[in-house]
Amino acid sequence: MSFNPLEEKGLNLEKQIRTWHEITKIPFNKTSVDCYTRTRQILMNGIEVEAWGFKHLFSRISADEETKGLISQIRRIEDMQQTTVNWLTPSDQNVLETTLGYEQVAVELTAWLAQNEPDEYVKETFDFGLLEDFDHLYRYSQWAYLEHGISPNSIVQNKTDIIIGRPTQYHHNCNKVRLRKPYDKNTVTPQTRVNICTLVSAEQQTHNYYAEHGMEYGNQCIRETYAEIKDVEEEHVTMYESLIDPTESLYEKLLIHEFTEVCNYYTCMEDEIDTRLKKLWELFLDYELGHLQIAAKLFEKNENRDAEEIIGTKILIPNKFKSQKDYVTKILENEVSKRLTGEMGYMDKNDITENWGSYPVQKALNSEGSPSERVIKIISATKGKNLVIAEKSLKNKESELLKKGLQDTPQAPDTVTVEELKEMQKEKDFEFECN
Ligand SMILES: [Fe+2]
Ligand SMILES: [Fe+2]
Ligand SMILES: [Fe+2]
Ligand SMILES: [Fe+2]
Repeated sequence: MSFNPLEEKGLNLEKQIRTWHEITKIPFNKTSVDCYTRTRQILMNGIEVEAWGFKHLFSRISADEETKGLISQIRRIEDMQQTTVNWLTPSDQNVLETTLGYEQVAVELTAWLAQNEPDEYVKETFDFGLLEDFDHLYRYSQWAYLEHGISPNSIVQNKTDIIIGRPTQYHHNCNKVRLRKPYDKNTVTPQTRVNICTLVSAEQQTHNYYAEHGMEYGNQCIRETYAEIKDVEEEHVTMYESLIDPTESLYEKLLIHEFTEVCNYYTCMEDEIDTRLKKLWELFLDYELGHLQIAAKLFEKNENRDAEEIIGTKILIPNKFKSQKDYVTKILENEVSKRLTGEMGYMDKNDITENWGSYPVQKALNSEGSPSERVIKIISATKGKNLVIAEKSLKNKESELLKKGLQDTPQAPDTVTVEELKEMQKEKDFEFECN
């Protein structure tokens, strides 16, 4: 179905207030839920958190009473939507299980967006970040097994490979090096705007989740792993948000935020296989169409321009959760040695020069070791090898991928070497690996 969201009325704001019982729904069942129902739930929570936070920022720097009044009302609804969506998480889904869900979102969503991104430079940035979240999934999977004895497949359900990506110790950059070139608001497509807004929301919430939950483990090395990867997510927010034209007005941004919510709920509704959640996505799509009407009116009144100029006339598809193994493997094989230049571009690790801005950061942070390396040492010391779940053809390339991904310098003192990984590859697979 294709329609023009600006022509839909949506649900009136006054009708969007629900009872506490309706706001706080019964959680899904973590053992029977489809992994892509869980990824949709994680993504939409992130979208709502951003929708709420942006409106607070807007209010703090706006003097227009009408605007402040209207967005304060919408903001409350966003917050209630966030409660409903996030609290679908069952209380028995532990922090590492939820974490695997977050990284699965990052991998599948970024891969989808990269393949549906019209701007080549933005696409390249998505591909770059993809290989980092892909590596996080591998590192956290080791902990999920060591700490809870679970197969990561109980979460990712064989849809996402679990194998080394660009090693996490190299995700640490000078944050200035992370900054990318912004798009031009006068020529950018609605698709690029929505793609970036979606991914920024997802990455920001991943950061927030690690910030709020990494400390729940007593194991110091797990805590350090969360601290390390949380910091990478901070870099991811920095990287993706820097793609946005900073001269867009607040009304323009409000419009993009509501349109992003509309498009994401629409896609969730279309793809959802859980009938209860499908109804929820449909209801919230109706809410967002109501918000979009208000945002469009505010934009048109304050800027004397048509909302269509910014968001176009049709619904877009900013998320579609499906297995992206082939695409991710292709990017992995071709781009694992890629690094960020200080000039908003990309380079191969062999082209790094001594004055590279990220060197001092990597040296300082990892001088006593990198927790994401240490977890591989720990699992190989206790189980004889690392945990990898992938097709045989990809598995066989594991040490080759590490070789391509490793920098000669700096290397954290506890870095797993190519030789060590080759030894691990000779060991028998984990029992559940053929699940
Ligand atoms: Fe919302
Ligand atoms: Fe990540
Ligand atoms: Fe990320
Ligand atoms: Fe909204």
